[in-house]
Amino acid sequence: MNREERKSAPIGVFDSGVGGLTVAREIMRHLPNENIVYFGDTARVPYGSKSKDNIIRFSRQIIRFLETKEVKAIVIACNTASALALEVVREEVEIPIIGVVEPGARAALEATKTKKIGVIGTEATIRSAMYEKIIQGIDPEVTVMGKACPLFVPLVEEGFAKHTVTEEIIDFYLASFLKTDIDALILGCTHYPLLRSRIRAYVGERIALVNPAYETAMDLRNLLQVHDMENTDTNQEHGMYSFYVSDAADKFKQFANSILPFDIETTKQINIEEY
Ligand code: DGL
Repeated sequence: MNREERKSAPIGVFDSGVGGLTVAREIMRHLPNENIVYFGDTARVPYGSKSKDNIIRFSRQIIRFLETKEVKAIVIACNTASALALEVVREEVEIPIIGVVEPGARAALEATKTKKIGVIGTEATIRSAMYEKIIQGIDPEVTVMGKACPLFVPLVEEGFAKHTVTEEIIDFYLASFLKTDIDALILGCTHYPLLRSRIRAYVGERIALVNPAYETAMDLRNLLQVHDMENTDTNQEHGMYSFYVSDAADKFKQFANSILPFDIETTKQINIEEY
């Protein structure tokens, strides 16, 4: 690939399913020239309850698939895969890869004054303590309190974000944070930004809500600049976006159309086990 070809090559973005669209959405907003190939592993979601070995295996397969699309960089939009697989897969490929955990951790450090940070995520993300490791690697004086909130994912996927039951579940998971003096809470799962206003209403203004998706888009911009890989073609209104899933393409499309700023036309189903 020559320099010009590399600049116009797409960014590979992947997630366990639809949730990573919250990250793709931030990339579309803030890096509008970039082309994106998105893969959602809808056949094997959720990753949050899977073992590290399987999450690494799934991530390797997806990266091999994205390589066939000649992506110039890869964003692991899934917090669980970022926490459990990024360190391993980063060593195995030449394409630059970033995840969402590091950018989220850095943003939380910038937001906290009390040096007490809360993190919510899937069982696997919280068990990995990866947010804590990164935060304390930068500032060992910071205390990190993690809480797995597994019911938030199905609530969002079933369209219950605005439903009254969601309030009770938010209270169930987040009540313990209110008794602490955390002043930053990391929304450490792709789906949680879609509950942001409900969580904000519950925790009040004292606690900053950190969305790693936005910070990841900013990190991606830096990465592209450093590698001289930004797409400078401004002839198109926005980049070209293609979507691939491992199952239930129609359901994916419906969800995507409810959260992206425009309607997507096609989603292709592929057999990811072949990669
Ligand atoms: N995408 C996952 C994450 O951000 C949430 C859904 C799942 O468990 O796979 O951790």
